[in-house]
Amino acid sequence: MVTSLKRDVYKSFYTKSGPIVQYMLDKLSVGPGMRVLEPCGGDGVFVDALIGKHADLQIDVYEANPQAIRTLQNKFANDERVTIFHEDTLTNRELAFYAGLGGIYDRVIANPPYGAWQDYEKRAELKKIYDLMYVKETYALFLYRCLQLIKNDGMLVFIIPDTYLNLHRHTKLRRYILSNARIVEIALFPSSFFPGVNFGYSNLSILTLQKKSRAEDCLNNSVRIVIGLGSVEDLVGPYTRQIFSVVNQRDIYNSKDHALFLSTDHNINRLINESKSYTGDIAACVTGFYSGNDRRYLRAGSSEAKNSRKYRPVDMNRVCFDPSSSENILNGIESLEHFIPILKGGNTRYYKPDIWYMDWGTEAVSNYKEDRKARFQNADYYFKKGIGVPMVSSAQITAALIENKLFDQSIVGIFPFDTQLTHYLLAFFNSPTCNKLIRTINPSANNSANYIKKIPFIRPSDDVVCRIDNLVARIVDNLKQGKTANKEIELKIYKYIKDIYGF
Ligand SMILES: C[S@@+](CC[C@H](N)C(=O)[O-])C[C@H]1O[C@@H](n2cnc3c(N)ncnc32)[C@H](O)[C@@H]1O
Repeated sequence: MVTSLKRDVYKSFYTKSGPIVQYMLDKLSVGPGMRVLEPCGGDGVFVDALIGKHADLQIDVYEANPQAIRTLQNKFANDERVTIFHEDTLTNRELAFYAGLGGIYDRVIANPPYGAWQDYEKRAELKKIYDLMYVKETYALFLYRCLQLIKNDGMLVFIIPDTYLNLHRHTKLRRYILSNARIVEIALFPSSFFPGVNFGYSNLSILTLQKKSRAEDCLNNSVRIVIGLGSVEDLVGPYTRQIFSVVNQRDIYNSKDHALFLSTDHNINRLINESKSYTGDIAACVTGFYSGNDRRYLRAGSSEAKNSRKYRPVDMNRVCFDPSSSENILNGIESLEHFIPILKGGNTRYYKPDIWYMDWGTEAVSNYKEDRKARFQNADYYFKKGIGVPMVSSAQITAALIENKLFDQSIVGIFPFDTQLTHYLLAFFNSPTCNKLIRTINPSANNSANYIKKIPFIRPSDDVVCRIDNLVARIVDNLKQGKTANKEIELKIYKYIKDIYGF
């Protein structure tokens, strides 16, 4: 029986979409007499569709939510083909036993919960069972367990977010799938196609797998990718024209972190996998500082600073404008002028005026070093010259100069080992070229340091570096004087970068 789901949200987004159900059923290729698993029953939408398709299926339905169980029991009480289990699919011992046996089902169809809250007790339990997996996002566990539960040659169709395709946390899951199943097809579409859902962090995908016990059979497979659907109806329409690409499964397996890079431009995919050099090779990419208690230590220098009213205003007479000239700056400043500029998140290109200041008095700094909530991390890079890229970006990635200031934990600081490259990197990280690369590496809005390190780096000739340097210097000067960046100069820079990268 279900034990520890307690106050968990079940994430009961039922599949109330005819085209999605139809497409998933088509892909499942269910045949007469087959044994089918529905691991997240809900109100039985897939079960209805399955029994409508074949009269003699044997369907096991698992569901954790007592309310949903009542609905299922009412609906299928007299149907001998359907067996309902009020169980937690992920922790159920019988299923674990069958998984260990190599699987007993011919088919699995599921819309598992995504983004469901797991309390700490449950996470610990899941970690014990799925020690190699990232247990905070249970859709990945459903996928893993269900792939174990199908027999060799059996098929599985899941509707899930597309984050398993490239996020680092799912690397082991990808390796497992790629070497234990043929990926028959992946259809990708906006989450808004699913009635009642619209999450910004990723798209939705419908994944069709066929289990294969020989890794070679899996790696020799060609994966069909379907994108560019105009509407949910296109899933079942004559969508061949939307098939974006066929990718060798072996190429995905051999790519960095086994990730699937899905740019329509193959030059981008190739460069991500085969570049001679990456940002992580030529620069330190590090996350910045957190005081542990910003209400106490942070000061607003302008009413334009976001949520500035929540913080005390800075007294400009107490600001230190040149912290890097201070001796032992990492131990704090003894004089009264001990508030120092800090770069925080927010999408600003090239140069961001100082609008936030941090208490850098000796007492405050010694607190930062001791407070467990504070993050006095990567301090070697504080007050150095580099560029700051906000961890979360809107449509276009942005970067601003870090010069003689601190940068906070919402920023990835990029400090080139060859300082002559600072302006070139500033230009590159604001360019559409860089945006295409980072969005292919990680389509979500997340630019954390580990993804940034994977961005291919191409060093142009010294002459071009120098020209771009001069153009960037002009933009930065303009911005420092309160003028706007010159659009023409920016376009010139992007043209240079496009010529260097080829897209
Ligand atoms: C997104 S809904 C999908 C329901 C249905 N299959 C559909 O497509 O309409 C996910 C279902 O899984 C159930 N669920 C959540 N966690 C579960 C678990 N650990 N074991 C079994 N069922 C679970 C929820 O209660 C919910 O009914």
